[in-house]
Amino acid sequence: MELRVFDTREQMSAAAAEFFAERIKSKPNIVLGLATGGTPVRMYAELVRMHREGKLDFSRVVTFNLDEYVGLSPDHDQSYRYFMDANLFNKVNIRKKNTHLPDGMATDLDAMCAAYEKAIKRAGGIDLQLLGIGGNGHIGFNEPGSPSDSRTRVVDLTPETIRDNSRFFTDESEVPRKAVSMGIATVLEAREIVLIADGDHKALAVARSVEGKITPDVPASFLQEHKKCIFFLDRSAASRLSR
Ligand code: GLP
Repeated sequence: MELRVFDTREQMSAAAAEFFAERIKSKPNIVLGLATGGTPVRMYAELVRMHREGKLDFSRVVTFNLDEYVGLSPDHDQSYRYFMDANLFNKVNIRKKNTHLPDGMATDLDAMCAAYEKAIKRAGGIDLQLLGIGGNGHIGFNEPGSPSDSRTRVVDLTPETIRDNSRFFTDESEVPRKAVSMGIATVLEAREIVLIADGDHKALAVARSVEGKITPDVPASFLQEHKKCIFFLDRSAASRLSR
C-alpha cells in the first residue's frame, strides 16, 4: 500500500485528478470504477476543468460506479446517478451508454446485481478504481462485517452511515436504509486502486485500514492485500498514522 500525503484537501484532490488524467491519457478506453460522496467532488471538478481546457478526452472511457441507494430514482437529487451526472458525466464528453451504476429501482435486485458483475467482466474488468472511505472504514457501501468474497449485492446501511449521509438529505428519515454495492471481491479485482480521504473524521478509519489487522470489521483493511493501491490523503486524514 502506498501513501501520498498532501498539506490540503485541495492539493490532495488535484493530485488524485492528475493521477486519473494520466491513466486516461495512456489508455483512452480505460475502465474506471467511480465513487460518490463529498470527498471526490473536488477531484471531479478538476477532471472537468482539464477536459474544458482540451486536455482530457472521455469519449472512449467506460465507468462503473461502486454503489447506489435502493429506491431512489435517477432523477432524485440524492441518487448516485444524479450525483455522477451533475458532477462529472454531464460536464465531459463521456458517452452516457458507457456509464454504469447499479439500478436501485430494479424490481429484481439480485438479478440486476448479477448482471452488473457480468457487465464489469464483459468490459474487461476495472483498470482503476476510485474509493472514498466511511468513518467506520466502509468502502462503497461495504459496511463492517462485509466478507472478503462479497460481490455486488443488496446491503443494509448501518445507523452510523445513515447518520453520516443524512447531511445530504433534509431529514435522517429520508435516507434509504438499503443500497446496492459492489462487494469487497469486486473492488479487489480492479487492477489499480486509489483511495482518497480528507479531514480529521477520517483519520481513525484510515489508520485502522493501513496499519490495523485485516478484518471484515474494517472493510478498507482488505486493501492491504491489493498489489497496487495508493491512498491520497490530506494531513488531517493522515494524522493518526504512525509512519
Ligand atoms: C458513502 C459512499 C462511499 C463514500 C462514503 C464517504 O457512504 N457510499 O462510497 O466513500 O460515503 O463519503 P464522504 O466522501 O462524503 O465522506
